[in-house]
Amino acid sequence: MSEEFVVSRIEGAVGVITINRPKVLNALSNEVMQSLSQALLALQGDDSINVIVLTGSEKAFAAGADISAMKGWDYMDVYKSNYIGGDWETMKNVIRKPVIAAVSGYALGGGCELAMMCDTIYAAENARFGQPEIKLGTIPGLGGTQRLTRAVGKAKAMDLVLTGRMMDAKEAEGAGLVARVLPVENFLEAVIGIAQEMATMSQTALMMAKECVNVAQETTLEQGLLFERRVFHATFATQDQKEGMDAFVNKRKPSFKNM
Ligand code: CAA
Repeated sequence: MSEEFVVSRIEGAVGVITINRPKVLNALSNEVMQSLSQALLALQGDDSINVIVLTGSEKAFAAGADISAMKGWDYMDVYKSNYIGGDWETMKNVIRKPVIAAVSGYALGGGCELAMMCDTIYAAENARFGQPEIKLGTIPGLGGTQRLTRAVGKAKAMDLVLTGRMMDAKEAEGAGLVARVLPVENFLEAVIGIAQEMATMSQTALMMAKECVNVAQETTLEQGLLFERRVFHATFATQDQKEGMDAFVNKRKPSFKNM
């Protein structure tokens, strides 16, 4: 039987994807990323799912790209195959529903970069983040010099990328990389609980809000404000906006139909 690199399950309107390569601390190979891409696409295509949680094990979210696989490759191998393109970028290019990274243990190299490709990061108290590629004679290749710099600023990004040191959950929260730090005990259940709270919202509004926040990372303030206003206007064409406001005025719970 072939190894199952990624395991998906559904909890209400939340899809939970678990990276499952415990022997190598969830090292990310092309096969893992292909399985992850397929799992993400399946949840994106399932209309009953509003929010996705991506997690690993208690010891490791992912300890980086698979060093054993990479070590023998030369320039033409990685250039011709566009290594770290394709399936590695499904999250960024295709997934429109919010994706939460639930990080327990190591999120290093490609693991830290994968967490940063998600829309937000919740960390367990034992989480460790880092970009140790410099210690391998290489540099981050999946956004570690770009997304980390935007998240924590130039000084700390330089510190992490140039020394390869790890930062703990508290430091990561203080630096703005992590949204919340939660106890290790029942960590995943707690994150799924937050995801389920989000998932009670309108799926359309969730996707629109995600898109707008992500645009803020890419554009000028003026352009971003205009984009936000146009999308805000667009929500007035949805039934969910009517339902949400009617429910508020009539002091009842809204029942969103994702329309
Ligand atoms: N790739 C392949 N195998 C890995 C791995 C990785 N990134 N990380 C850990 N493993 C393997 C180890 O080789 C070991 O396998 P064996 O039992 O067969 O020896 C197993 O996982 C357990 O690891 P350790 O014995 O090292 O566990 P530890 O608790 O002593 O240390 C660790 C944990 C500090 C995370 C250490 O494993 C480590 O430093 N891992 C490498 C981290 C790293 O350098 N990541 C960056 C990779 S490059 C990259 O990601 C490029 C990019 O930008 C996309």
